[in-house]
Amino acid sequence: MAHVTLGCEAGDPCDNGVYPGRVTQPDALPVLEALHSTPARRYLSDEPIPEEVVWALLDAAVRGPSGGNRQSWGWVVVTDASVKTRIGAWYREGWEKAYGVRREELKDRSGTPTGLSGASFRAGDHLAAHIHEAPVWVFPVLRHAADSTNPLLGSSVYGAVQQLMLAARAYGIGSTLTTLHVGHERDVAELLGLPEDARTMALIPLGYPARGRWTQPKRQPLSEVVHWGGWGIQRKQPKA
Ligand SMILES: Cc1cc2nc3c(=O)[nH]c(=O)nc-3n(C[C@H](O)[C@H](O)[C@H](O)COP(=O)(O)O)c2cc1C
Repeated sequence: MAHVTLGCEAGDPCDNGVYPGRVTQPDALPVLEALHSTPARRYLSDEPIPEEVVWALLDAAVRGPSGGNRQSWGWVVVTDASVKTRIGAWYREGWEKAYGVRREELKDRSGTPTGLSGASFRAGDHLAAHIHEAPVWVFPVLRHAADSTNPLLGSSVYGAVQQLMLAARAYGIGSTLTTLHVGHERDVAELLGLPEDARTMALIPLGYPARGRWTQPKRQPLSEVVHWGGWGIQRKQPKA
């Protein structure tokens, strides 16, 4: 059962810095329900996230898997407005190059089984314009990764990243795994003071959702992506 903080004026933080009505204890959400109801959340409010909650998310993240349990990671938390503003501009540049240039084509696109729908594009466009307003950013960072050509490199951190995002969900906090700052990876690494051999693996903006719902992410049907026993071998899914 979620613990909700009450007893101070709406819109103003309580003495402990927590906003009234905000969940400070996680929802006891069944794992599968969480997995089926955690889409990317790109409309985020700038309402602060209590620091204790940020620590709880990081504690859930580091329970995730890494090759040989090496945990060659670091988790850089950014709340400083000037840092978010600078990196936010680099993120926007990446978004414009990748998607913004196709704004007219993408913004009203109807649902497609893969790729961005019009709604996802508009949400992505909104996030690009407002990413610096998300109260907390987390950069998962991997050591010995700056010059790596290992195609499996990310497997030692993205499981943990997903745990962070699902833990956030339990606290009613939305997130999106983003990477479009990478065009300025060296600039970001310098600004964050990363070791020479490290690189950022994502930028995860966290915030309480300002719009939208916790709905099941749309995906291609299982029948089109499952190969049972070998590639191209189909199998009928039994009725549940
Ligand atoms: C490697 C990777 C990079 C991504 N980069 C971005 C990004 O830079 N910006 C963004 O808005 N979403 C980014 N996403 C999120 C995807 O767009 C999102 O997972 C996809 O649209 C499905 O969203 P849904 O879970 O809400 O259906 C990225 C996801 C992955 C796995």
